[in-house]
Amino acid sequence: MKVTVVGAGAVGATCADNIARKELCSELVLLDIKEGVAEGKAQDMMQTAALLGFDTKIVGSTNDYSKTANSDVVVITSGLPRKPGMTREELIGVNAGIVKSVCENILKYSPDAIIIIISNPMDTMTYLALTSTGLPKNRIIGMGGTLDSSRFKYQLSQHLGCSPADLNAVVVGGHGDTTMIPLIRLATWNSVPVTKFLTAEQQEKIVKDTMVGGATLTALIGTSAWYAPGAAGAAMVESILRDEKKLFTCCVALDGEYGQKDICLGVPVTIGRNGWEKILDFELNADEQAAFDKSAAAVRNMNDVLKTL
Ligand code: 2OP
Repeated sequence: MKVTVVGAGAVGATCADNIARKELCSELVLLDIKEGVAEGKAQDMMQTAALLGFDTKIVGSTNDYSKTANSDVVVITSGLPRKPGMTREELIGVNAGIVKSVCENILKYSPDAIIIIISNPMDTMTYLALTSTGLPKNRIIGMGGTLDSSRFKYQLSQHLGCSPADLNAVVVGGHGDTTMIPLIRLATWNSVPVTKFLTAEQQEKIVKDTMVGGATLTALIGTSAWYAPGAAGAAMVESILRDEKKLFTCCVALDGEYGQKDICLGVPVTIGRNGWEKILDFELNADEQAAFDKSAAAVRNMNDVLKTL
């Protein structure tokens, strides 16, 4: 198995590091446009192999896509990250051009690859990847909800005093500070609704803190976060390569599910060897559906910007 991670910034390198440590593939290519950066980080990671005991061969490449040939999965992290105070949406102009050309280059050498999009604004970049490549919809997957759901579990665990691993909780909708929808009504702690243990104020705070999770970290660190985004991408790669059919909330093309069409948005899907395989389409309550529709309208506005670029 072969995986390529495009973009050797903090998110791409962390994603690659997670993939290598888990030995998800025999070959891993890290590609970046900046001379030497991918080669340097690839070598640095390879120098942990003896210490960590993994066998994945990591190769760095400065924009030479021939090295990525025959990748099974490609993770695209390229583009500018957020600066403090910036929304993900403000990145659209620059990142759209980058993501489109990365997809073209990747498909020249790996026509059968499954593509995971991490670049922001993630929902619009996923839609762009889908519409510009014309690939079957199952092969384009945006990462946002996987990350946001993990952040949601973290926030819940802090209030419940429990392990995040014991929680089931999903964030649907867009991957934006105002477009994501943490579904607290449906979150459970080993099958028991978390709402039984949390006051209304606590629930409100958890939802709010989850929604601004990325912005909070950007303000603290001075740039976009990378540990959880990189780990989220790697978890999706794992489910694809091992055909685990795990349920993640991912940004995928909707065709009537949750009442939306011609848009990529975060919904629960199974992830396996064919990319995203099945959408878990269930009835939201009226408030949740209204929030989902509002989120779709905001993402659709952003997608419309693509036509003006
Ligand atoms: C985040 O939320 C990178 O969009 C990503 O941290």
